[in-house]
Amino acid sequence: MKRLHLFEFHDLSWYPNDWRNLLTDIMTSFAVDCKPYRPIAPKLKTALQQLNCSRIIDLCSGAAGPVDSLLEELDTVGGRPVTFTLTDKYPHMTPFEQTAAKWPDRVSFCEEPVDATNVPEELDGFRTMFSSFHHFDPETARGILQDAVHKRQGIGIFEYTERRLWPWVPSLFFGPVVLWLITPFMRPFRWRRLLWTYVIPLWMVFAFWDGLVSCLRTYLPHELEEMTADLGDGGYTWEIGRIRSFGACRVTYLLGVPPSDTT
Ligand SMILES: C[S@@+](CC[C@H](N)C(=O)[O-])C[C@H]1O[C@@H](n2cnc3c(N)ncnc32)[C@H](O)[C@@H]1O
Repeated sequence: MKRLHLFEFHDLSWYPNDWRNLLTDIMTSFAVDCKPYRPIAPKLKTALQQLNCSRIIDLCSGAAGPVDSLLEELDTVGGRPVTFTLTDKYPHMTPFEQTAAKWPDRVSFCEEPVDATNVPEELDGFRTMFSSFHHFDPETARGILQDAVHKRQGIGIFEYTERRLWPWVPSLFFGPVVLWLITPFMRPFRWRRLLWTYVIPLWMVFAFWDGLVSCLRTYLPHELEEMTADLGDGGYTWEIGRIRSFGACRVTYLLGVPPSDTT
């Protein structure tokens, strides 16, 4: 299936924050309860060990679900606890604060917006992006990899969406029903979530569109390989592939590790 770079509502600056946050809250429930990213933890840990790096800068963090779901498994590198700094262009402060409180000394966050296409110099560390690389068109996505190479940082891209009908199209149609059933049990509890789910469920139409477009925009492993082909990377090791997660879910991943003498 050809990649289609359509727009997603929650990328638009005028899209209501409340609705953007509902989407990332749901993604967090999925990440924490189903742990789709668990199978990539050993690969990410190996990359960190190769670099002797224990500091991760998570870009496009949303409501921090993938980070929360991986902290236990990543544990330590070189005897130091692996830490994450959460960042986003539209920081969702409540889950940032809650995740930092749950993992004191291991999770911090940036209150100011951080654009993944222009990471500030002081955010020094291994970069991760979960379920978000597909937001960027090929040229910008390549620019994100190029910037990591330029600053000699490791980078990990992970996506559980895929450009295929199964299982994503049935899941998207089934999604609103599941949401309707689980909303009262989602934590942290928020009254506004009830309002937007049961009284004015308009945002679900936009979330359905965003989910569909996410699948249509997700890069295939060979497209990621093409992006890394001429970055002038001075010896980066690129590992790109797909790994099975739970059920029919698979994670497409890219890991870029600079040679250790240049970091
Ligand atoms: C689909 S959500 C993924 C959230 C989270 N990583 C997860 O897996 O649950 C995409 C996130 O990317 C953020 N985002 C979109 N464009 C961005 C950009 N240029 N720089 C940083 N964050 C961006 C959005 O605000 C949103 O939180």
